[in-house]
Amino acid sequence: MTQSISKEAIRAAYDHRMAVRVYNDEDISRDDMDFILDTAWLSPSSVGLEGWRFVVLDRRHIEQLRDSLKPISWGAGPQLDTASHFVLLLAEKNARYDSQVIKESLVRRGISEEDIPARLGLYKDFQERDQKIADNPRALWDWTAKQTYIAMGNMMTTAAMIGIDTCPIEGFDYDKVNAVLSEAQIIDPEKEGIASMVSFGYRLKDPKHPRSRKPRQEVITWLD
Ligand SMILES: Cc1cc2nc3c(=O)[nH]c(=O)nc-3n(C[C@H](O)[C@H](O)[C@H](O)COP(=O)(O)O)c2cc1C
Repeated sequence: MTQSISKEAIRAAYDHRMAVRVYNDEDISRDDMDFILDTAWLSPSSVGLEGWRFVVLDRRHIEQLRDSLKPISWGAGPQLDTASHFVLLLAEKNARYDSQVIKESLVRRGISEEDIPARLGLYKDFQERDQKIADNPRALWDWTAKQTYIAMGNMMTTAAMIGIDTCPIEGFDYDKVNAVLSEAQIIDPEKEGIASMVSFGYRLKDPKHPRSRKPRQEVITWLD
């Protein structure tokens, strides 16, 4: 692949990205949102499960859900008032080694019928012995939910690279938001639950304060 993006351009996007909570009234184009969503779709997942779904809300949908979501989403108030789009990151429930979704993922990835039992045995060990999640529905959901954060990061970085602002959001009551989304027939609560949200738009203004980070040497360790 020819290198078409400079390191400086990538770094500039990281420097510009910040959690933007208040947006102007410009709409993001469908084309740009689809470009961003492709990077969620193409994100890697453990054992290639893709135990996720990304639901897109435009201004019309945000308006329909705003009154229900705002009182139960302490971290999303200004974003719900001003964002052009929201993406809801949903994580699959009950992705146990012996579930249909795991089998389907093996077939999708072209694993031959005769190799499937050995793979399932490996995943059984992985979930029972290594991760200790197989018999705990909450732990199984956390396993798929944490993978959605890869897609979240990819979407936010891609958005920053094309001049679109974002805010990652997990400041909400999970049970209540799931109930609202279930009532609105956006999720199937038997199969999936919300892991996080991301708001998208164009910043109303730049922040007053510079972004703060721990000293680089505190978080990055090169071993001698
Ligand atoms: C997983 C996650 C959840 C977050 N949840 C919220 C939220 O609910 N509401 C909010 O306004 N910001 C939220 N943030 C934004 C953080 O507060 C912000 O990223 C952090 O303070 C660093 O600032 P920066 O993104 O501007 O560099 C969240 C960030 C992450 C990574």
